Amino acid sequence: MNGKVPHIVQYQGSKRILAPQILQYMPNRFNRLIEPFSGMAAISIATAYENRTNKFLINDLNKPLIDILREAIENPEHLIECYTRVWNEQFTYGENHVQHFYDVRERFNAGEKTPANMLYLLARCVKGSVRYGKSGNFNQSPDKRRHGTNPKTLAPNIYRISELLKEKASFSSKDYHEILEMAKPGDLVYMDPPYQGVTNVRDNRYYSGVPFDEFADALEILNKRGVDYLISYDGECGGREYGEDLPEKLKCKKVLLNAGLSSQALLLGKRETTFEALYISESLIPEFSRIPEQLSFMEAI
Ligand SMILES: C[S@@+](CC[C@H](N)C(=O)[O-])C[C@H]1O[C@@H](n2cnc3c(N)ncnc32)[C@H](O)[C@@H]1O
Repeated sequence: MNGKVPHIVQYQGSKRILAPQILQYMPNRFNRLIEPFSGMAAISIATAYENRTNKFLINDLNKPLIDILREAIENPEHLIECYTRVWNEQFTYGENHVQHFYDVRERFNAGEKTPANMLYLLARCVKGSVRYGKSGNFNQSPDKRRHGTNPKTLAPNIYRISELLKEKASFSSKDYHEILEMAKPGDLVYMDPPYQGVTNVRDNRYYSGVPFDEFADALEILNKRGVDYLISYDGECGGREYGEDLPEKLKCKKVLLNAGLSSQALLLGKRETTFEALYISESLIPEFSRIPEQLSFMEAI
């Protein structure tokens, strides 16, 4: 599936590569997919591509990200036109094109939070990783070797994503608690909160952090209301586990998905596979007993 599933831009923590494994644990059909921590919505896009549902609720606290997705899906021509204008502008700077990134960043922080500006910052910043300072200003640096995705590469991907999700998706940028309140039995909630290592920092309005206990309490409420869910939540690499396991009382099953060789370990000359944990809510467990190889792996952990 990976080769053909469109995506907009690299986003740190994106589940694009893991999407085929994650989708194995979804029911074949369900009423609506809810993504409270959507990032660049890799899982919604893959789910639409596989036609598992016709309704999506895409949410992320980071409003400029949601604005990119909304514009890409509802108004693709306009986004491509505006992005092309911003992207081309860097070549008027000659060799000093890195300065263009800083200028767009300054305009963005001064209030020009347009989807095209955000997309350009995302496409050119280090590791596609969004960083905001205490004041809420975008403060990530540019990747000096790159110009950001060429609009000619971006355009077909954006049109395809629009085709997949137009008139099927609604968008919001709220705290995840508000989104979970909207979930009903028959919906599937896919959650990909920030890694636990960065979750306890309530640093600013875009990146609130998701304290472990609060998150576990929210899941308990979903259990009581009979809402199915899947959660990507940390994992392990080279035998070291990252993050605390979700409490047993939630009765979820944990499986480890193979996320490939760790690039950080490779830099140190080590070959270590990273595994990302996926938690499956209790009522979905019988559904995935049809995945034999994962079951035997899971029994081994
Ligand atoms: C690991 S990323 C999700 C990546 C996504 N699955 C993808 O494939 O692109 C986690 C996201 O949670 C968002 N976030 C952080 N705190 C949040 C909160 N309290 N409510 C909603 N979203 C939040 C962040 O802005 C970030 O985009």
